[in-house]
Amino acid sequence: MIRPELSLRVVESAGDIAAAAAPIVLAAEREAIAERGVFRIALAGGATPRPLYSLLASMRDPGPSFQRWQIFFGDERMVPAGHPDSNYRMVREALLDRAAIPPQRVHRVPTEAGSAAQAAALYAAELRSCFALAYGQLPRFDLVLLGLGTDGHTASLFPGSSAVTETSTQPVVATWVEKLAADRITLAVGAINAARTVVFLVAGADKAPALRAVLGADAQADAGAPAPPARAIAPADGELIFVVDRAAATGLPTG
Ligand code: 6PG
Repeated sequence: MIRPELSLRVVESAGDIAAAAAPIVLAAEREAIAERGVFRIALAGGATPRPLYSLLASMRDPGPSFQRWQIFFGDERMVPAGHPDSNYRMVREALLDRAAIPPQRVHRVPTEAGSAAQAAALYAAELRSCFALAYGQLPRFDLVLLGLGTDGHTASLFPGSSAVTETSTQPVVATWVEKLAADRITLAVGAINAARTVVFLVAGADKAPALRAVLGADAQADAGAPAPPARAIAPADGELIFVVDRAAATGLPTG
């Protein structure tokens, strides 16, 4: 039984995910601009979302109203902004440079800071400023895009990481990822769950076991193993959508 609170959209192949996700982004954008005059989106890193960013950059009539966007990042690797592993660099190449989005509308994680903790604190301060928050208040993104790792991580919320169980009202946490031997900065679970809409983009058969566990479609996973970090993503007052390809949906109940 898949968790009833979420929406699952299965597309044929990974190449179809961008076309299925773009209308969801544009609908969230339209509502945000109509209601608040601005669209605040947190982008996912990794490889899966890149075609979506390229598609959004190429759409015309109607295309996105980028002049109303404020762009944030769901997580970042603690590397320079021009590093091949940088999520910001991926987004710059796929979207920002192609859509000529003004730099003042882009809020990257300042990984040039002295440490991941300092980068996280600076990014949290940037969020508080952009969302006009008091200390301790969480940002309410209009849309958070997320990916899913084969181990059930999302953003940089990895199994065993203290960031997964972070219950403070810190919107951003720095986390050491043992398996990668790397520092990461990530939105905390609370900040993601405060969003109006959260969309997971998942492709590939290797993601199927993690996806089943996250969707609640894997009985033994529910019975024994600790829940994957991505299972903690459940917007308190928002929509949760999974856009997945058929390979990642392997073993899901078709009903
Ligand atoms: C990152 C992402 C991470 C990613 C998953 C899936 O910084 O890498 O935030 O959570 O979404 O690892 O990555 P792929 O889309 O490349 O499979």
